[in-house]
Amino acid sequence: MKLTKEEQEMLSGKQGNAVKKSMEILTALGDIFGAERLIDVKSVQIAGVSYHNLEEAGLEFLEEMAKDGKAKVFTTLNPAGMDLKEWQKLGISPEFAEKQLKVIEAFSKMGVKTTCTCTPYLIGNRPKKGDHIAWSESSAVCFANSVLGAYTNREGGPSAIASALTGKTPEFDLHLDKNRQAQVIVEVKTPLKTLTDWGALGHAIGEKAGKKIALITGVKKADEDSLKIFSASIATYAGAAIFHIEGITPNKTVKPKERIEIAAQDLAKSKAFLTDASEVDIIAVGCPHCSLAEMETIAKALEGKKVKKEFWICVSREIKDKAAEKGFVKKIEASGAKIACDTCMAVAPLKGRFKGLATNSAKAIFYGRGKNSFKTIFCDLDKCIEEATR
Ligand code: F3S
Repeated sequence: MKLTKEEQEMLSGKQGNAVKKSMEILTALGDIFGAERLIDVKSVQIAGVSYHNLEEAGLEFLEEMAKDGKAKVFTTLNPAGMDLKEWQKLGISPEFAEKQLKVIEAFSKMGVKTTCTCTPYLIGNRPKKGDHIAWSESSAVCFANSVLGAYTNREGGPSAIASALTGKTPEFDLHLDKNRQAQVIVEVKTPLKTLTDWGALGHAIGEKAGKKIALITGVKKADEDSLKIFSASIATYAGAAIFHIEGITPNKTVKPKERIEIAAQDLAKSKAFLTDASEVDIIAVGCPHCSLAEMETIAKALEGKKVKKEFWICVSREIKDKAAEKGFVKKIEASGAKIACDTCMAVAPLKGRFKGLATNSAKAIFYGRGKNSFKTIFCDLDKCIEEATR
């Protein structure tokens, strides 16, 4: 890879140890993937924030980088393993909380904005079309590339930190237009009316088209919450980091020859696959983290009701604060449901505490089954609330 004079100095250690280590990570990645140069990024989003995933070795790495590393571009974090303020209410142990707060402290020392969310684009880390960025969270990467028209690979935790501390990323794969072109047309032959329809679509595309980049046709309209939940699902079940929807998403693409169809029975099949429980003891919505509009819908749906089971609504702190101003938080909490800020049902240490999860998110089903061995019910918000209140 060709490095500029400044980049060579960074690699030699002139800007300190953390920058040197970061450049070693980025140049090694660039060499492996055949990048010719490093490019500047406008923002970074770092995953691997939960102490549950990092453990002691991860915390040590962060503390080492925080000794002299400072973020050069706007950087936010993915969800942590707990609500950073009200962790007790979610049943988190003091030992875990102590370690998690050390992780956050290390990021804070690096000048990272310690807001922990998988929907940074809802709280000010929202790139413009054409911006190059270095994000890690798979659903956010897919949303940024596809819906916002930004350019990012799916970074690992260490490479995202390296980009934050240098403002650089190696130019390969999805930073180049030639690698963002559709490979299969996915003709949707059935209306998409609910969030679970969109979640099921992501699963069905994974089943029928595998990892090929999809150009989806036949969809008349899509609001941002639908695209948010779809990005999470297609990233999870089709490994997608980008998709195109004709007439809706902003990127230009070639029209591939290969074509598949998704009909009503394909969505029904996916929904059936995503449900394997008849009873649950935890209900969770907000995967990816809720928008303000979703918080309003949830508040209205819970008004006057009492939940009898653990019920988490996962959201960023900024959206929670806005929802509080509008009175949504009060209504939600009056029902007994818990607002799980800064965290989510996948990265919090929930294994062994619950057996069955009901959720409107196909991605949450994947992690609930894989990480926590939950049985699952995949259903829309009204059914989630029915489950919680009966
Ligand atoms: Fe976000 Fe957690 Fe879902 S990180 S996308 S709420 S699994």
